[in-house]
Amino acid sequence: MTDYKHFIASQINAPIPTEEIESYIAETADDSFGDYTFPCFRLAKAMRMSPVAIAQKLAADIECGQVISKVEAVNGYLNFFINRTDFARDTINEVLAQQEEYGNSTVGNGKTICIDYSSVNICKSFHIGHLSTTAIGSSLYKLFNALGYKVVGINHLGDYGTQFGKMIVAFKLWGDRTTAEKEGVKELQRLYVKFHQEEEKDPQLTEQAREWFARIERGDKEANELFEFFKKITLDDVCQIYDRLNVNFDSWNGESFFNDKMDAPLQMLQQKGIIVESQGAKVVDLSDYNMPPCLLVKSDGSSLYATRDIAAAMWRKQEYDFYKCLYVVAYQQNLHFKQFFKVLELADLDWAKDLVHVAYGMVSLEDGAMSTRKGNVILLKDVLDKAVEKALDIIAAKNPNLAGKETVAEQVGVGAVLFSALENGKIKDITFTFDRVLNFDGETAPYLQYTHARCQSIIDKVGQVEGNVDLSALDNPETLRLCKLLASFPQTINDAAHKYEPSMLSALLIDTAQAFNKFYTEHRVMCEDANERFTRLNIVKATKIVLKKGLSLLGIQAPDKM
Ligand code: ARG
Repeated sequence: MTDYKHFIASQINAPIPTEEIESYIAETADDSFGDYTFPCFRLAKAMRMSPVAIAQKLAADIECGQVISKVEAVNGYLNFFINRTDFARDTINEVLAQQEEYGNSTVGNGKTICIDYSSVNICKSFHIGHLSTTAIGSSLYKLFNALGYKVVGINHLGDYGTQFGKMIVAFKLWGDRTTAEKEGVKELQRLYVKFHQEEEKDPQLTEQAREWFARIERGDKEANELFEFFKKITLDDVCQIYDRLNVNFDSWNGESFFNDKMDAPLQMLQQKGIIVESQGAKVVDLSDYNMPPCLLVKSDGSSLYATRDIAAAMWRKQEYDFYKCLYVVAYQQNLHFKQFFKVLELADLDWAKDLVHVAYGMVSLEDGAMSTRKGNVILLKDVLDKAVEKALDIIAAKNPNLAGKETVAEQVGVGAVLFSALENGKIKDITFTFDRVLNFDGETAPYLQYTHARCQSIIDKVGQVEGNVDLSALDNPETLRLCKLLASFPQTINDAAHKYEPSMLSALLIDTAQAFNKFYTEHRVMCEDANERFTRLNIVKATKIVLKKGLSLLGIQAPDKM
């Protein structure tokens, strides 16, 4: 496939390096002005002429031919018209040749990216607040993988803290194994809430909890067995969700993994003179950077969330020698990340610049905000179940005879929920409404899935066609528009990954599906002429490949029938 920007750059006879010229060439927004444009003011200095004059001079030098069909100098821009039917044919051929490999690249070969995402807390239920980190992290995982990076998905479990002392007390007083095994995290959560209610009446409980926590820390057998039991119950529960969401992790090393790995980092910071003592605690003063101090060791000697994150970052650098280490965590933790990144930077660790906080906004349901502490959480499982149930209703109404309706409904319902966290720029707060995310005609996952299934059904209906590509069948605005979108898929994967913004891919897929549906209403695939039919069928096949691959990079499945 011709690299158009590269080719066009090579045709421009200007006194700056060709790579630089290439970097200024952009696709036009409106194709009546051509397909690519080069802004000549970039050359004004080197050529000592006005952009208008430069454009005219350069245009006169360019010979049109097979690739470039026309050049126009307009207001200091050089506008290039490419041979559009060749472009469309080549794009389709490229997609069909590469199949599900289309869009993959090798830019990341030899580099490792760590992605810390989802990172659940033991004994806490998996609620709607965890949706974004899980969906975005998992999509970034798949995107970077497609670009040839080695990716390490890390679930940095919240498995350390005084709350586990409280859990043990609560469990011993009011819980039992059978109920916990049967009810899962819900039961643990119930006990936790009860502890807080009872604690207000009986301060004894607080003291007992402290003792049990100390026993966990000391490695006491009973305490650790109970803790492991809570951990197992929690992970059994969340892994069911991860399976439904098609999400995977390579490491489950959480906060407690760093219990015995904080001394060396603390010593290093001490040696570099970054740590100061303040009322018996150890802190890093960040007032020069307009931040509160980063607390690392409390006056009683215990460590903090930040201490563990510092130890974790250093350990990951050692273990994986990452090129980047991403933390997909809500923007409420902005300060925490800024603080500990700064501490590592002050310690002269040059890789501190490779730590990235990928922040995102909050998800809430239309019927009000969620509250975690009081126990009235909206479980992600309930949201998924409800979405699947509603999807099943819609499918049953639209296509009552569909085989395996339940499986399709699961794919559609789960896909709709995932997409709701991936469709907007990450930093936006979103309100989730079932009707909106499940709208088969909206900008939703079901719409993409439906368009994909439509492609498949056309392919099935038309069947095998023997023929040749008919260039005249490609010569229309709908086909060109669709092919441009298909052609930009690889670059979009690249951008979505490197900007940590899966929504760029979501947007491209929506545009592609809309362009396809437009194409499909305007041009009959099942037409008389075999070459025309062959050509249009190939467009459908290429679209199907891109939609399926794109959805899979968002972690969403694409059933063949809906
Ligand atoms: N468990 C934390 C929470 O739920 C998120 C952990 C994010 N990762 C990290 N390395 N701090 O808030």
